[in-house]
Amino acid sequence: MKKFLVIGNPIEHSLSPKLHNYWIKSNNLKAIYDKKKLDLSELENLIKEVKEKKIDGINVTVPFKNSVIPFLDKLSNEAQKTQSVNTIYLRDGMVIGHNTDIEGFELAIKHTNYDIDGKKVFILGAGGVSPSIILALNNMSVKKIFISNRTHSKAENLKKNFNKIEIIKWGTMPDFDMIINATSLGLKNDENIILDYSKISSEKFFYDVIYNPSETNFLKSAKKNGNKIENGKKMFIYQAQASFKIWNNLEPKVDDRVMELLN
Ligand code: ATR
Repeated sequence: MKKFLVIGNPIEHSLSPKLHNYWIKSNNLKAIYDKKKLDLSELENLIKEVKEKKIDGINVTVPFKNSVIPFLDKLSNEAQKTQSVNTIYLRDGMVIGHNTDIEGFELAIKHTNYDIDGKKVFILGAGGVSPSIILALNNMSVKKIFISNRTHSKAENLKKNFNKIEIIKWGTMPDFDMIINATSLGLKNDENIILDYSKISSEKFFYDVIYNPSETNFLKSAKKNGNKIENGKKMFIYQAQASFKIWNNLEPKVDDRVMELLN
């Protein structure tokens, strides 16, 4: 029986077990996927269990995607470039940290019917998920990436690794085609991002990394003004699919049932 885990703090609301266990069952695998709430001080011992083959794979979520790095033997290029790990596995006796959020975002955009090639993209937020989104956008050859963060210094730190991005003062807007909410604003239903929607024309694409609630106020306002919108559900599903593929050596299906599973 293989054993997989998602770790984070908090972790109660994670939908990863539901999704992975569905794929485990539909592929007739002998495995179980659980969730575990951890403290930072427990990370090292848990990673040891991967080395000892007691755990076959770990997904890492907020707030450990970066803090887990010192306990790993090796990082993939993607994890290295973003300093963010969401998938852990053992290969040739080494505990490897990888980042499938990048692939998750890329596949999500490919499956939303939006031609992103040559577009100007405005990212709100310079937190944990932003480097993955920037890397994915670079892979998809967008024309320009703007970024804005309440705490300006964090945007500047990102620019050190991704020198082509342009920093925009929090509360102001550049000329963009697509806008991405990569902040945690909207997780609570009453939260709003202060944007002057009257100044944004209707043909823009609004993307929110948040998928629960399925329509944040950011997406609701955009939709009301006639814009195209998309939440983070597909990104979540495709990052999970990429992890599953690494651990089980098979690609689980993303079909309507999977989409409904997370409603
Ligand atoms: P962190 O990066 O702090 O570990 P995160 O969940 O990865 O946490 O990122 C949270 C993001 O949401 C950050 O961009 C954060 O902005 P700050 O860097 O200024 O904290 C943003 N965020 C959270 N609450 C916010 C708020 N009330 N207003 C504006 N931005 C907010």
